[in-house]
Amino acid sequence: MAPPGQLLVLLWLCLLAVALPGTGAGSGRFWHLTDLHWDPEYEAAAAAGRPCPSGGGRAEPAGPWGSYVCDAPWSLLRSAARAMRARLAAPDFVLWTGDDTPHVPNEQLGEEKVLHIIANLTSLIRETFPGTKVYAAMGNHDFHPKNQFPGKEHRIYNQTAELWRPWLSDASLPLFRAGAFYSEKLPGPGTRGRVVVLNTNLYYDQNDETAAEEDPGGQFQWLEETLTNASRENEMVYIVGHVPPGFFEKTRGKPWFRRGFNQRYLGIVQRHHRVIAAQFFGHHHTDSFRMFYSHTGAPINVMFLAPGVTPWKTTLPGVSNGANNPAIRVVDYDQDTLQVLDMVTYYLNLTRANTMGSADLPEWEEEYRLTETFQVPDGSAGSMQRVLERISRDPQHLQLYYELNSARYDLELCQQECRVDHLCAIREIDFTKYEECVKTNSSASAASSAWLLVFCIFLGFLHPQQVL
Ligand SMILES: *[C@@H]1O[C@H](CO)[C@@H](O)[C@H](O)[C@H]1NC(C)=O
Ligand SMILES: *[C@@H]1O[C@H](CO)[C@@H](O)[C@H](O)[C@H]1NC(C)=O
Ligand SMILES: *[C@@H]1O[C@H](CO)[C@@H](O)[C@H](O)[C@H]1NC(C)=O
Ligand SMILES: *[C@@H]1O[C@H](CO)[C@@H](O)[C@H](O)[C@H]1NC(C)=O
Ligand SMILES: [Zn+2]
Ligand SMILES: [Zn+2]
Repeated sequence: MAPPGQLLVLLWLCLLAVALPGTGAGSGRFWHLTDLHWDPEYEAAAAAGRPCPSGGGRAEPAGPWGSYVCDAPWSLLRSAARAMRARLAAPDFVLWTGDDTPHVPNEQLGEEKVLHIIANLTSLIRETFPGTKVYAAMGNHDFHPKNQFPGKEHRIYNQTAELWRPWLSDASLPLFRAGAFYSEKLPGPGTRGRVVVLNTNLYYDQNDETAAEEDPGGQFQWLEETLTNASRENEMVYIVGHVPPGFFEKTRGKPWFRRGFNQRYLGIVQRHHRVIAAQFFGHHHTDSFRMFYSHTGAPINVMFLAPGVTPWKTTLPGVSNGANNPAIRVVDYDQDTLQVLDMVTYYLNLTRANTMGSADLPEWEEEYRLTETFQVPDGSAGSMQRVLERISRDPQHLQLYYELNSARYDLELCQQECRVDHLCAIREIDFTKYEECVKTNSSASAASSAWLLVFCIFLGFLHPQQVL
């Protein structure tokens, strides 16, 4: 028997433990999944000995769980759903950043087929997380013809709004019908969190519908107003979308946004960064991040690019061996400030899964935890700046980042050009600054300009940040 004094202390501790979670918001977790790219005809093609439709004629054995030259077979998507339930069945919410259809020509799709695929994946996610709030964004492949999103109402927006109705608030519905963007407060009483879901397909340079417009759908103006309102209401915001601003890190000089749209987006983040806790995007299928700086060079915001579920090897010119292992991600966050506390990425070694055959359930392993792997306290802009500095300085950390970039598919050494492509893409969203970054650091001129560079730094002509 414990003496009364000890019992009293125990009682106090119990009371404290019970009372503490109620005294303020704690930490929560959510899933970010993106780029599922279902290839509905994968199995039939495999059974008939034909290459998968999404493979673009590239022949590689069609494994039971997928192939690196193909989009995801149903078995892979079901396996991802099962893995998510096993790892975290009741997240606070889910971010789903789009691209549901296979990489096949428009002629093989059509409006009905695209909507059917979106409907099927919507059901999969609803069944995986019943009753959970899902913030869904449209990807550039979730339209017909692909990429051609208008900045005004469209039947596909209407139909998608119907499919996502269980997740959308009454106020979001008309907004979605008019341009496929919306904003909502996070669920839970007393929360000051808000999620802003954008349709950045309007800014994609492959979109001919919006090419001549200054502010397609009025989305930029709406975003500024939404952020201004959030600031007044003392809210904190996550910005969520599919096509990100800035450059693709896997090949030199490949942006997605048109120049003017890129500039405007960057300006908005710079003006409103205080209310933006973080940004979450997809489209790259790779695991990376993007830094945003103030005019004086202080890190003010970060965008996390989540790796895709599809392993599909990109056919984008200039990218060599651009496949990835399927991956999914959990974000730990502060429920009050929305500060990103940590991120855990899970991946499926597709080669291994296929070697084991279709009878065994493949295992989605924990790939890495942000704070452990990169030795930072959290996922704030300041911490991610430290990650960038570490991978800039230390070849071993760069290599680690590089292997994670494809969810451990591509384990080649990341040297000179690769290093510049990745570091400049992470650091510079702005077109001109990215070009300068590449020029300053490109290997061809690196040797001859090394001394000039040292001289310039010495004279203070260059901000040290410009040197990778
Ligand atoms: C989605 O497609 C899969 C594979 O064809 C099928 O098993 C599943 O029942 C479909 N789901 C819905 C809701 O249609
Ligand atoms: C979209 O839905 C709204 C409301 O139901 C309707 O008024 C509008 O005509 C529809 N637009 C298109 C293009 O289908
Ligand atoms: C911003 O707040 C004002 C005043 O409450 C409101 O009228 C307006 O609709 C809000 N704007 C957005 C984009 O939510
Ligand atoms: C994936 O599995 C294959 C086959 O078992 C193995 O050779 C490879 O090293 C694995 N990759 C990683 C990153 O573990
Ligand atoms: Zn995609
Ligand atoms: Zn995309």
